[in-house]
This record gives sequence, structure tokens and C-alpha cells, in this order.
Amino acid sequence: MKNKISVSLGERSYDILIAKNSVEYLPEFLGQKNYSKIFIITDENVAKLHLSSFKKVFKKTKFTPEIIKIKSGEQAKSFKSLEKICEKILAKGIDRKSLIIAFGGGVVGDLSGFVASILLRGVDFIQVPTTLLAAVDSSVGGKTAINSKSGKNLIGSFYQPQLVICDLNFLKTLSQRELRSGYAEVVKYGFIRDEKFFEFLEENYQKIFSCDEKILEKIITRSCEIKSEIVGRDELESGERALLNFGHTFGHIFETETNYSDEILHGEAVALGMLMAAKMSQNFNMITENDFLRIKSHLENVGFTIDPKKIRKNWNEKNLISHLFKDKKNEGQNLTFILLEKIGEAVIKKSVELKNFEKILAEFL
Ligand SMILES: NC(=O)c1ccc[n+]([C@@H]2O[C@H](COP(=O)([O-])OP(=O)(O)OC[C@H]3O[C@@H](n4cnc5c(N)ncnc54)[C@H](O)[C@@H]3O)[C@@H](O)[C@H]2O)c1
Repeated sequence: MKNKISVSLGERSYDILIAKNSVEYLPEFLGQKNYSKIFIITDENVAKLHLSSFKKVFKKTKFTPEIIKIKSGEQAKSFKSLEKICEKILAKGIDRKSLIIAFGGGVVGDLSGFVASILLRGVDFIQVPTTLLAAVDSSVGGKTAINSKSGKNLIGSFYQPQLVICDLNFLKTLSQRELRSGYAEVVKYGFIRDEKFFEFLEENYQKIFSCDEKILEKIITRSCEIKSEIVGRDELESGERALLNFGHTFGHIFETETNYSDEILHGEAVALGMLMAAKMSQNFNMITENDFLRIKSHLENVGFTIDPKKIRKNWNEKNLISHLFKDKKNEGQNLTFILLEKIGEAVIKKSVELKNFEKILAEFL
């Protein structure tokens, strides 16, 4: 396979394949392994659009996979559906040599990864991402999770896949809104690590939204390279990996407040969150006003709603603050934010006072 990135994690290392028709590699991979049974977890939308073509790949193998279908949407990342999936798979007869394949977006990936990590205390799994967001972010790095009433992704595990196959064909059916949501995580890599990449995106972002295959392959590859390097150095997020959460602390409070609904998609929340984090960076004199305006105008050009009042007229500030304190990066009352030292260089800023956060809320709400 031509376009391959390796995630170096010792014996947990794996490859990410990014190309058109890359699922064709699956039979070869399975031929090298000794799996007994395959379970594909997917959601209703992906099943309707792509399951029949994905299933064709297995005709070249000895497997007839069992299909586990879940409802589409963030609500599926719950204890209820976790239980349902586990019981279904157990009833169909899973053993330690079984393989679970996550075929879908970040919701399917996060949930299936968690299922794979706890069923029989862990079975192998493969990620086949079908959204841009999953391709550049959630399918790589081994974070799995479901949501709790207390917040997003609070129940989960670190559990690396055996392989990630990103086949560009699957991305073609994404709506512009879903593509844009995924794009937030792409441009995040430019903001936190690679100004040149941001420049490239400023010049080429329109081609992403017309699904130009060459550009898609390039930006997914660069995103996965940056994520893999960071995860390779800090798998369990004891330091540097937290930089990948740029924009997420702010973003999560909006997602929690809107109950993970379509009112604001994950990437849309992240885009807004990145802008707020950029503003906080400017308030701390870390980036210039020009840098802030450059970030703002790019996010606006791409079509993100960067004014939270256009999403909801009256936000409950008290609630937003209480969601903030559930962020995993915080230790007690000490707030931690990922901020920008400059475009292309993020840093972890600890011991931020609540008043600094409240100032940002006041500026945006
Ligand atoms: N584990 C991680 O490191 C990590 C990182 C970032 C985000 N996430 C998680 O990812 C989730 C968001 O992922 P997402 O944006 O992919 O959401 P998603 O999985 O809900 O997919 C978005 C929508 O697109 C549909 N869809 C999927 N593939 C499609 C296709 N090819 N064509 C048409 N429609 C398609 C889905 O059915 C769904 O309705 C969040 O739960 C977030 O917490 C996890």
C-alpha cells in the first residue's frame, strides 16, 4: 500500500492506510492473521450508504462478518447502547480470536473501540473511518469512550487498533456540514503544530469541500502524521498529547450544554472553541491581534458559525461554567487550557484563573 503512516508504539504499533480503494488491502491483512470471527459495528446511515460495498471485500476472505447496527448520532455513545452491543456480540458467540471492525464515524469508532477493549478483556479491532473527522482524528491514537450525564467521553479506555484503513471512496457521501465539522480537526493540526500546513489549507480549503481526492489524501495524511507523532511520544496523555485538545475545552462546554445534539456538531464546537482559545491566547499576549484575526477570518471563510449567539440566543453562563469544571485536564479548581504561543505552536497553560475564562465568555456571548 502506497500511502501508509505508521504509529510507533512498540508492540502496539500499527499502520494507517490512506487512499482510494484502500479497503482492498483488508483481505491481505486478514490472510496474515488467524481470526476466528469478524464483527462489523456500523451505524444506520453508513450501513445504508456503504455496507454492501464494504461487505464485498470479504468475498475475497473466508469470513462472513456479523453485522451490528447502531442508531446514528452522538446519543449512541451511552451505557445503554454499550450494553446492547456487548450483549448482542456475546450472544452471537465471540472468542478471544475474534476481530471487531468499526465502520463509521467517530461515534462508531469510539464506541466500538471501547467495546473491543472490554469484551473478554480485549479483542483486536480495526478502524475503517467514514467521516473526515474520524479519518484525521478519532480513528487514530486509541482513545475510546462513551459519554456520561456529567460530560463527554468521561468513560473509556486507551486501546489501540491493529490497523486503520481510510478509504477516500467512503467520504464522498458526506454532507458539506459533516465535511466542515471534520475540517475543524484538520485545521487544528495547522494551528497547533504546522503553520505551513495552515497556509496550505488557507489556499486549498475549497478543494476539500469539492472532495478533490488528491487534496483530501494530502490533508488526511498530514493530519495523521502529526497526530501519530504526538501519540507516539505520549500515548496516555501525560503531557504533549493534551495539545491535541486545542479548542476542545471550550467546545465541550457547548456540546454538553446542547446535550450532544445536532444544534452544534463536534467539529463545529471545536472550531468555535479554537477561536475562543485563540482569543484567550491573545488576551495573555501570546499571539498578536493579527494572528487572531487570521484564524477568525479563515474559520469564517470556511463557513463555521463563530458567533455562539447565532447558534443559541441565550446561553446559560452558569451551566457553561459548571461544564468547564468537568474537563479531564483540570486538577481541582486549577483550570488548564491549550493556548497558542504562535500559529503552529500550541502550549499547555496551567493554573488559569476562572476570571480569564469568564472574560472570554463575556466577549463571545
Ligand atoms: N477518540 C478520539 O480521539 C476522538 C477524537 C475526536 C472526536 N472524537 C469523537 O468523534 C465523534 C464525532 O465523530 P463524527 O463527526 O465522525 O460523528 P458521527 O460518527 O456521528 O458521524 C456524523 C454523521 O455522519 C454520518 N456518516 C458517517 N459516515 C458517513 C458517510 N461516509 N456518508 C454520509 N454520512 C456519514 C453518521 O451516520 C452521522 O450521522 C464524537 O463523539 C467525538 O467525541 C473522538
